[in-house]
Amino acid sequence: MAELPLLNGPNLAQLGRRRPEIYGTTTLTGIEEMVRKAVPGHTVRAVQDECEGALVRAVHAAGDCAGAIVNPGALMMAGWSLRDALESFPAPWIEVHLSNVWAREEFRHHSVLSPPASGVIAGLGADGYRVATPALPATIEG
Ligand code: DQA
Repeated sequence: MAELPLLNGPNLAQLGRRRPEIYGTTTLTGIEEMVRKAVPGHTVRAVQDECEGALVRAVHAAGDCAGAIVNPGALMMAGWSLRDALESFPAPWIEVHLSNVWAREEFRHHSVLSPPASGVIAGLGADGYRVATPALPATIEG
């Protein structure tokens, strides 16, 4: 069964109570359940960590992958070791942000992760994770 790493960076375990006016009220557990339902037949490997190294390890540990969904949180701004790891990721992956980062503070306008991503989804709230799943070719193939 193909794996689908679902990686969430710093502060995203706080979803549901973290600035709900920006990030919505869906918890990270709710998002993980939503992604699992969206890709039956795949093993979703959900990892959230406050530390960049743990996410790098999760990228290295990925097996036969359908693709990956990555919300790096603030690592979007300077997560160079995560960027290096994802550059060698063997399948397409999508960068997701709940908020529309370009409508926010200027320091959120540039992501060091985006160039090697297959696509970027921002501003759709928790729905962005669900929208990402059919964009990963292997999940379309089933
Ligand atoms: C975020 C946007 C980032 O700028 C911020 O640091 C986050 C969450 C989002 O999902 O909108 O932690 O990635």
